[in-house]
Amino acid sequence: MHSASPDDELSPRESFLLERQSVAINQFDERTPDIYRKPIELPQEVADWVAGWGGRSLFLTGAIGVGKTHTAWKTCRRWLEAQYGPGQPWQGTPIIRTFRSTALFDALRPDAPDGEGRALVKKLQQVDLLFIDDLAAARATTWTQERLFEIFDERYIRRRPVIITCDVLPSQLSEVTGPRVASRLAEMCGNSIVLLEGPDRRQGRAA
Ligand SMILES: Nc1ncnc2c1ncn2[C@@H]1O[C@H](COP(=O)(O)OP(=O)(O)OP(=O)(O)O)[C@@H](O)[C@H]1O
Ligand SMILES: [Mg+2]
Repeated sequence: MHSASPDDELSPRESFLLERQSVAINQFDERTPDIYRKPIELPQEVADWVAGWGGRSLFLTGAIGVGKTHTAWKTCRRWLEAQYGPGQPWQGTPIIRTFRSTALFDALRPDAPDGEGRALVKKLQQVDLLFIDDLAAARATTWTQERLFEIFDERYIRRRPVIITCDVLPSQLSEVTGPRVASRLAEMCGNSIVLLEGPDRRQGRAA
C-alpha cells in the first residue's frame, strides 16, 4: 500500500511557504547568540500572544536572570514561524531586528557617522518586528529620547509590534524613554505584559 509522506500531500503553495519558513528560521537561528539557541518552553501567556497576535506588542519583565532575554529570542522565533502559518497572507520574509538598548542608544547618538543614526531610525520604524533587550539598562539623552519617539510613534501608528524586555514595568519607563514613548508602549502592549517569575537561573547554574 502506498503511504504518502506529509510532503506529498502539500499543495505547491504550502510547499513553497514551508520552504521559505525553513530558510527564514535557519537564518534567524544563525544570528541568535549561542546561549539563546537552546529550546525552552515558552510561558503560556507568551504562546497565547503569538497565537492571537494582531499587531500587539509584548513586554517581558521580571528580576535579573529569570529568563527574559532567552524567552524574547524564542518568542521572536515562534512569531516568525507563525507568519507562514495557514491563513496568513504571504507578504515576503518578515524582517526582525534585535538590539540591546545600550547598543541601540549608542547607534542613535548625534555624532554617528554620515547620517547612520537617521538611516537606523527609518529602518527601525519599518521592520516587521523590533526586539529591544533590557530597555531600562541604558541611559538615554534627550536626543536619544527624541529618536526613540520617532521610532515608537511610527510603529504605534502603523501597529507594528515591538518585544521589550525590561526589569521595570512600562509605567516606570518614562525616565528612560521619556513619557511619550512610555505612554505609547503601554497602549501597544495592552495587557500583553508578562511577568516572569522564579530564581536567577544563572545562580542555579553556578551552584
Ligand atoms: N526557560 C528556560 N529554561 C532553561 N534555561 C533558561 C530559560 N530561560 C533562560 N534560561 C537560561 O538562564 C540564563 C539567564 O537567562 P536570561 O539571560 O534570559 O535572563 P534575563 O532575565 O534576561 O537576565 P537579565 O535581567 O540579567 O538580563 C541563561 O543562561 C538562559 O539560557
Ligand atoms: Mg537579559
